[in-house]
Formats: sequence, C-alpha cells, structure tokens
Amino acid sequence: MNDDMIDRLIDRLSPARKVRLLTGATTWRTAAEPDIGLREMVCSDGPAGVRGESWDERRTSALLPSASALGALWDDDLLEELGRLLASEAMRKGVDIVLAPTLNLHRSPLSGRHFECFSEDPELTGRAAAALIRGIQGQGIAATAKHFVANDSETERLTVDVRMSERVLREVYLAPFEAAVEAGVWLVMAAYNGVNGTTMTASPLLGDVLKDEWGFDGVVVSDWAAVRTAEEPARAALDLAMPGPHSPWEKCLAGAVEDGRVAEKTVDDKIRRLLRLADRVGALAPGSARVRPALRPRDTRALLRRAVAAGSVLVGNDGDVLPLDPAALSTVAVIGTHAAAPRVQGGGSAGVHPSGAVTPLDGIRTRLRGRARVVHVPGPSLGLPPSPVDTVRCAEPRSGTPGVLVRLLDAQGRELYAERRLSGRQLEPTLVPGAHTVEISALLRPERTGEWTFGVGGFGRMTLSLDARVLVDDDFPCLSDDPAVVHVNPPLHTVRATLVAKRPVHLVARRELAAGTGRATILAAAPPEEPPAAALAAAVASARTADAAVVFVGTTEHSETEGHDRTGLTLGGRQDELVRAVAAANPRTVVVVNSGGPVELPWREDVGALLLGWFPGQETGAGIADVLFGHAEPEGRLPTTWAACLADAPVTETRPVGGRLEYAEGLHIGYRAWLRAGREPAYWFGHGLGYTTWRYESVDAPARVAPDSAFRVRVRVRNTGRRPGREVVQVYLARPESAVERPERWFAGYAAVRAEPGGTATAEVVVRPQALRHWSEADRSWRTETGTYRLMVGRSAGDLRWDNPLRVTAAP
Ligand code: BGC
Repeated sequence: MNDDMIDRLIDRLSPARKVRLLTGATTWRTAAEPDIGLREMVCSDGPAGVRGESWDERRTSALLPSASALGALWDDDLLEELGRLLASEAMRKGVDIVLAPTLNLHRSPLSGRHFECFSEDPELTGRAAAALIRGIQGQGIAATAKHFVANDSETERLTVDVRMSERVLREVYLAPFEAAVEAGVWLVMAAYNGVNGTTMTASPLLGDVLKDEWGFDGVVVSDWAAVRTAEEPARAALDLAMPGPHSPWEKCLAGAVEDGRVAEKTVDDKIRRLLRLADRVGALAPGSARVRPALRPRDTRALLRRAVAAGSVLVGNDGDVLPLDPAALSTVAVIGTHAAAPRVQGGGSAGVHPSGAVTPLDGIRTRLRGRARVVHVPGPSLGLPPSPVDTVRCAEPRSGTPGVLVRLLDAQGRELYAERRLSGRQLEPTLVPGAHTVEISALLRPERTGEWTFGVGGFGRMTLSLDARVLVDDDFPCLSDDPAVVHVNPPLHTVRATLVAKRPVHLVARRELAAGTGRATILAAAPPEEPPAAALAAAVASARTADAAVVFVGTTEHSETEGHDRTGLTLGGRQDELVRAVAAANPRTVVVVNSGGPVELPWREDVGALLLGWFPGQETGAGIADVLFGHAEPEGRLPTTWAACLADAPVTETRPVGGRLEYAEGLHIGYRAWLRAGREPAYWFGHGLGYTTWRYESVDAPARVAPDSAFRVRVRVRNTGRRPGREVVQVYLARPESAVERPERWFAGYAAVRAEPGGTATAEVVVRPQALRHWSEADRSWRTETGTYRLMVGRSAGDLRWDNPLRVTAAP
C-alpha cells in the first residue's frame, strides 16, 4: 500500500481515534481499528527467541544463543539464517513484531545486559544487526532496533542521563542504529535513559537524526512504560507508547491536539508510520490472516547446534589438548555445576521457555556412549539462593504427576480456578474475575536429609508454608519502578527447614494480587549443600583418575541479568579454586566458560585448553560436545576484549553520579581504550584460535582511495595446520597525523574464508567509506580527512600481520 492510500485511511479517522492508536491495547498488542481494516499487531521479546504474548512455561520457544554469542559468529549468512528462524518462531506464535536486536554496546564489562548486546565495536554490531534484521524482515516479520540510544548499562536505567559529546554519540553509539536503518529496520525502540539532558522518548535525536537525517520511515516505539509525559515525546517524534491500554501519553495527547499544542499533522505522521508498519506485516488488509505458514528451517535443532560451535571461542589450547580423541579416552571427568545445569540464556525480558535444553553433560554422554566412561562431579556449590521448583523433584499435589498446582482464590480463600503447571515461577497466572490471591503448591520429595532452603518471591502480602506450618507471613512493599524487577525478577524471601530424605512435604506459597505489586509469584527450594571441602576433593579425585577433565564454570542468573549491573568479574563460589585443583591433578584439563560477558580467569595459563561458550541457547550441550570432540571447529572470534582482571579494564564505570553517567572515555571504548592505555588484556577483540593455524601470505590493497567510495582489501591466507578451518581476516585503520582526536586504530571490516589443510583462500574485505569519516562538531556534519592513513590486516585488534600506508585523496 502506498502513502496516498494510507493517507486516505487516515482521513477517515477522528483525532480521538487517531490518538487511541498511539498507545498499546494490551501489554503486547497495538490497538485495532476495524473500520480501516487495521487489526492488532502482536509484539514479543526478545533477542534470543520469541516468547510470544505470555510468560507461560508450557508455551515453549526455540532458544538461540544470546547476542554476545551471535557477536562472536562474524558470519552474516548464519546470522540471517538465525533471523529467519526468529521470524518463523514469530509466525508460529502469532507475533508480528520481534523486539530485537539490541544494539547497545559492550562499554563496560559490568553491564548486566552485556549478554544481550553483540559487541564493543560499532561496526561489528551494526553489521551483525543488519544481517539479523534482513533475516527477520525478509519473512514479513518486523524487527526492532533497541534501545535507542546509550542504554549500555543498567544502574538507574530508567532515569540515568548519559553524557557524551556529539562526536562520540555519532561515531560510536548511534552508528549501529544507523546501520540498522540502512538495513531497512521497521521499528526503533526509544530507551528509558536520557542522553545529554533529555529522556530518550522525548529526545530531539528521534526527529532530527533518526527520521530526518537518516530517513527512517518506520515506527519509534517506547521501551515498556518509558513514556511518562505526553507533549514532549509527541513533538520529539515518538510514535507509539507501549504497553497499554493506559499511558500518560494517551491521557494528555488528545487534549494537546485539541488545543493545538500538538499539531494534528504531527499525529498523522505517527499514524502513517503505524499503518505503514501494519501494511508491512500484513495487518492492514481486511481479513488479513494473523498466522501465516511458518517457514521453519528444515531442522531448527541442527541450526541451533551449528550456531553453538560457530560462536564458541577457543582462547587457549596448550599442546593441542583439544579436540579430544574419543578413541584415546577411557574415562572423562565432567566437573562443575554448569555441566548439568548450564546457563543457556541471560535473565530479564529476553528470557524464553526453551522447548528443551541439552546440557553439556548430556552432550558429552551422548558423544561418548559405548566408547568411554563419563563421571560427573559438580564440585562445591555456587551458594546461590534457591531456584523455582520444577518437575524434577516436585509433584502436583492433586494428581501426583510432575509439576505444581496453581490456584486463584477469592478474598475468602475459595478456589476460583486451578491448573497444573510446570514451574514454581509464575509470571502470568491465568487471571479470573474476582481473583484475590495466587497460590502455588507442590509436593516436594527431598532426595537428601538436612537443612533445605525455601523461598517465596514477589511483592505484596505473601505467605509460605510447609506442611501447614507457616514459615513466612509478611507484607513486602514494591520499592521498584523497573518492570524487569517488578514483573520478572522480584526478590526472594528465604527460610530454612530440615527435611528427611524421601519423606514428601507439602509446600504452599500465596501472594495477594493487590494493585502495584507486579505480576510475579515464585515458590523456590534448594537442597542442603555438600561441605565444600568434600565436594572439592571429590572433583579432584575424579580428575586424577580420568584421561581428561572438562570443567564447566560460569556466571549465575543473579549476576548477569537485566535491571542490575554486575559488581565484579570473578566467577562465583569456589570456581577458581576448583579449576586450579583440577588442573593440578590432570594436565589434560579443558575449561569451558559459560557466561554472557567477560569474567576473570586467573588460572588461564595453567589449564590445557580454554573455550568461551557464552550463553549458547537450547543446544548448548550438543554444540559444545561437537567442539570438544572435533566434530566442529570453535569458529568464534571475540566480539569484545576480555580483561585479565577488572582492575586492568580501562572503562568500567556504570554508576551515575547525581543521576549522570559521563562517558568520559569518549571514542575510546573496548580495544580502543586498551590500545590508548597501552595495556595488554587477557584476550583482544577479534581473537580466537580455532583448530588450525594460518599464514598470512599476501595482501592486495589499494595505496590510494577516494574519500567517499568503498574499497577492497584482498588477503591470501594458507591453512598451515592439520585440520580444515575458518579464518576471520580483519582490517583496521589508523590515522597517526590526524588533525582530530582518533582511536589508536579502529576496526573497519572483516571477511571469513575456509580452507583445507595446506590450502589457500582469499578473503575479500570491503571497507565502507564510513570507516574513514569523522563527525565534525564545528561543521555539525561528517568529514573525511585527506592524507595518509595506515591500513592494517590482522587476526585481532592486538595481532596485526600487515601494515601499509593508505593515501586518501580527492583525485586518486
Ligand atoms: C526492556 C526491553 C523489552 C521490554 C518489553 C523492557 O524492560 O528494556 O528490552 O523489550 O521491557 O519486555
């Protein structure tokens, strides 16, 4: 439908009906206007999968690797394929708009949502985003570039005012969004935070830069509940306030239009964008179907499994410990809590319920079945709060089948509704009229005698009882405005009680459904912990007698999650001690790190091999086993520089002072900051070993280029190892004699090639003209300096193999 046709539809709407369309109809739906053939459009989080309209553990989703793992792919085709998978999941779930990808940057390793962002580098982030967007939107499902802009950390995220110069904003933080607009993204989400004094839903950047300068023709949607006033966001070019049905915007916008404070043509422009979006996703044709045929990739699981290996980054492999040869193994010790309970995704709004998750222990067992013995020892516990009860040790009290019983009660405690569910974490119980209390109950069969820990989570009046004995009975007021805390991750209140093995107990958690207390109710339990010394000794003993030990370490859902930043980079519990002890007992110790962002690995020089696995999604264990036993190469390269320890990292601060967060480092984040500080990180941006070795044989690059045209760098590499492999050839630029401040060097592009042992391949890296430009604050426009640059080719930001002058001249 063209704009004239859309305008004719707009003419049929009164101002009041127009305004109504600019706020959501529900938490996840936009409003419908049947008179013009507009149906509701359904939105869904999130980057690692499509949850659909409800947080219901029975409505499962394909779970992709989290964004930092996707950033490690350096593979446009695979990203597009994963985008198509997200689109097909959206279709299956009746979703029109996927709230992904997240284009904020890895500015500080402490950022709680690091796992949800691709990289520290704007060019790599923009390129990954563009590929994913093409994959999603090619199927007629909308993608959303979020959170525009500078929502790079979580502390005071709803109000923080991020401060930086216009040049830094343009060159670093806006650049990935510009790439997303170039890729044709249909929505951009305005962030909670402010930038340079204005909250993002009211920021002039929406109109001046995003719409006018970049020509964005889609919808600017607010982050959930980010719109707090009406007029400023309306003038600032916000189009759609979510969620609904009520928003401050809806309340005042109609009045503001009536008395002329907001012009009707301003509203028309918003409606035009909304209808254009509706047309794009097929929501604007009379009778247009909500669910279209799902274009499922032939084998979703195989694709997700391939993505695990493709994003895993091998950073150490002393004496080629990896890949392990199953024929040479009779016993393998698999150590660590994360082996049997991996983190497959990060916490917060991005969370989905995977249709199943393959643990590393499962993956290794499957791979070695009939070949070698696998011994699993978890090692010392991580000392975490209890987790929501599930189908493993709980039965639904009425039927005795695995699960929990969820009931809705009226004010007198009478049952209004009951159903069996699969999780003690209920974020959206089926609500019924007159519901006053939500109750979760379960019959827990303790596998061990000792002191168990129980928890009840949520806000408002809550009780927790065990066999009718009341353990918690209190009012827990809601002190947060953050939807991620209120509705998704409310605090847990814990108590301890002694249980006897195999003697079932009846647990009941109740929460009153009062206004302003959020949606979440949680019933959690944890068994008694084994004394740490004994747990450590058991792990060491298993490693000593095994042919190889594989230790899984990682972060926890309490450290990497939306709504909070991390307080440190150390692995929790006694994981460092565990790795050291195991490595001392067995030289063939492989460590697999299961984290969304950087962690300190103080023993990294002392282990045989070190693999960074990220949060790899539902096929975690299958993909990791492929890598461990050489069925697939760990093809990933670091999208972000890893510090040896937090104290070394040049940019870490995420805590605002007086409500402001200064990006004092300016242009110099990530590897740029390390280069400027002259410090050596543990692993540079771009680093990754793979299973073979490469020689850089020749580089064919222009000596002179024009300021405004792309150019190509051809690099011939030879596989000098014994296995086929994939190499990611990277190009960097520098401008030592620049008249303006520059990063020491900056990433300008990459190309990946494959070659057989002994074979060669030529990588052709296209460098976009944008790589040469800088933002001139004096001219308020882009400029490209003519003169001499340095053009560099390498394997990472810290491992360069070729360095030549490049002249940029107006007449080459
Ligand atoms: C998050 C967004 C998310 C939205 C809807 C917000 O709290 O910041 O990323 O899409 O919630 O769940």
